[in-house]
Amino acid sequence: MTAFKQRVFSGVQPSGNLTLGNYLGAIRNWVSLQDSHETIFCVVDLHAITTWQEPDTLRDATREVAAGMIASGIDPKKSIIFNQSQVSAHAELAWIFNCVARMGWLNRMTQFKEKAGKHKERASVGLYVYPDLMAADILAYQATHVPVGADQKQHLELTRDIAQKFNSDYGVDFFPEVEPLIFGEATRVMSLRDGTAKMSKSDPSENSRINLTDDRDLIAKKIRKARTDSEPLPASLDDLEDRAEAKNLINIFAALSDQKADKVCAEYEGKGFADFKRDLAELSVEVLGPITEEMSRLMSEKTYLDGILREGAENADKLASPILKQVHDIVGFLRP
Ligand code: TYM
Repeated sequence: MTAFKQRVFSGVQPSGNLTLGNYLGAIRNWVSLQDSHETIFCVVDLHAITTWQEPDTLRDATREVAAGMIASGIDPKKSIIFNQSQVSAHAELAWIFNCVARMGWLNRMTQFKEKAGKHKERASVGLYVYPDLMAADILAYQATHVPVGADQKQHLELTRDIAQKFNSDYGVDFFPEVEPLIFGEATRVMSLRDGTAKMSKSDPSENSRINLTDDRDLIAKKIRKARTDSEPLPASLDDLEDRAEAKNLINIFAALSDQKADKVCAEYEGKGFADFKRDLAELSVEVLGPITEEMSRLMSEKTYLDGILREGAENADKLASPILKQVHDIVGFLRP
């Protein structure tokens, strides 16, 4: 087996506002990897258009995601930050992977089923092959580690299957076995209105999520309005198995305060939600307030953001181009 250089890659779609879920499940964890690893973070605009995006909104959302990453602590001097469509290797490798992945594999993808819903026949073909593009994002850099929220686990398993089949079909040891990094106390942040549904940028209810564009008052208001139950809090997280909303808020508290969820439970044991929500609102504002403010400041510096994305894309391209050339040779594409 080839020893691959450790390299981290991850991405976020510019298809709506960044949420607390994106922050706690992914971006925050990326920040912690910057000092120990080579890190590449991508605004995946090619993925975003698998569902309809207004062109002007997409441009703004792309800058907004970049601003959100930087405001959260991703440092453009330490990490490569860029938008996917600027580096053609992603789309080119995705095509090759469309020919490696099997229909049966894609038919199993739960995210496609959820997103396409009852209207599968009307979903874009792009939405169906979305996971192949995701595999291309990662493998165009021969990245070894991918920090994501729990909802992306199945896609990363598919990435491993594609890498393995490519290696075995062509008799090479070219793509690494990608390792998902799913860590922290909030790997799956749930909706504030329904503890059984994922917090998502596409939920029609604004009160279901905290956006990184919300100001301090709105953040506090959404936490105060979050759905809960009438029971007092128990001593440990295990006792919250049937109380999805309560469990979610405890996990959010734990992640925001860098503590174990059990410790948070123990601290609030026997108390009702009034006290707990007041403290959670305060904590959320304290942690997220500076990020949302910095993000909105950065949004007024379009030239700066565009410069970061341009330079990031140049650096990303330098890494991906030679890898793609080797793929062409392996596959048998003639380069006379
Ligand atoms: P996206 O844009 O839906 O979400 C970006 C990241 O945020 C995480 N996340 C959450 N984590 C916890 N709780 C939540 N409620 C929550 N909502 C979102 C996601 O797990 C993800 O890590 N397909 C990816 C983007 C992508 C990608 C990649 C990721 C494209 N190419 C290559 C990794 C590597 C997506 O749609 O993420």
